[in-house]
Amino acid sequence: MKVTIVGAGAVGASCAEYVAIKNFASEVVLLDIKEGYAEGKAMDLMQTATLNGFDTKISGSTNDYSKTANSDIAVITSGIPRKPGMTREELIGINAGIVKEVSSNLIKHSPNVTLIVVSNPMDTMTYLVHKTTGLPKNKIIGMGGALDSARFKYRLSEALECPPSDVDGMVIGGHSDTGMVPLTRLATRNSVPVKAFLSEERLNQVAEDTKVGGATLTKLLGTSAWYAPGAAVSGLVQAIACDQKKMFPCSALLDGEYGLNDLCIGVPAILGKDGLEKIVELQLDDAEKNKMKESAEGVKKTNGLLDV
Ligand code: NAI
Repeated sequence: MKVTIVGAGAVGASCAEYVAIKNFASEVVLLDIKEGYAEGKAMDLMQTATLNGFDTKISGSTNDYSKTANSDIAVITSGIPRKPGMTREELIGINAGIVKEVSSNLIKHSPNVTLIVVSNPMDTMTYLVHKTTGLPKNKIIGMGGALDSARFKYRLSEALECPPSDVDGMVIGGHSDTGMVPLTRLATRNSVPVKAFLSEERLNQVAEDTKVGGATLTKLLGTSAWYAPGAAVSGLVQAIACDQKKMFPCSALLDGEYGLNDLCIGVPAILGKDGLEKIVELQLDDAEKNKMKESAEGVKKTNGLLDV
């Protein structure tokens, strides 16, 4: 199992580290446009192999895509991250060009690859890859909901004053401050609906804190976060690599599901060896359906800025 990660920056390197530590891939190739950067990150990570007990071989490359040949899975984390006060949508100008070029280079050397798109604005970048590469739709997956759901569960565990592992929940919709739809109605603590423990007001607060989860960290860090994004991507990579049939909310190209068409947006999906193997259609209530519709309108507006 060969995994390529393009963009050896904060999120790319964090993803490489989690993939290696989980020890399911034979090889991880980090590629970056910055001279020597990917090679340096790869060497640094390889020097943790005996400390962390993994056998995955990590190598680096400065923009030489022949090193990525025959990758099973490739992650696209190349591009600029946001600075405090910026929205993800503001990154489109620079990142669209990068994502288009990177995805085309990857496919030239790995025609059977499954692509995981991370660069922001992620739903629009995923749509761009669908529109420009010709890969089958199950082989292009956007990562956002897995991260947003992890942030949601963290916020719920804070409100419930319980360990995060007690909590289950999911965020669907667009990966943006206004587009996320945290499904508070369906969230549980050990299978008990969380609304049995928390007031509606507290749950609304949890939902709002979740939606600005990325912006809160960007303000604190001066750039966007990387540990949870890297861990979330590694979860998707593992589900595909190990054919786990695990369900994650992912940005998927919709064709009528949830009453939506011709856009990529976060919906629950089953991931396995064939990539995004199935979209799961939840029975949403009217309020959730309206939020999803508004979220889709936001994503489509950003897609309208693309030249495709
Ligand atoms: P970073 O700046 O630390 O790393 C980006 C890397 O991409 C840099 O090393 C840069 O040299 C490289 N790069 C730029 N153009 C390239 C090209 N044409 N080919 C190869 N490499 C290239 O940024 P960070 O924090 O790792 O974020 C990366 C992207 O991921 C950003 O767009 C950010 O907004 C997004 N992101 C998405 C998340 C999600 O949930 N979907 C979560 C966190 C970040």
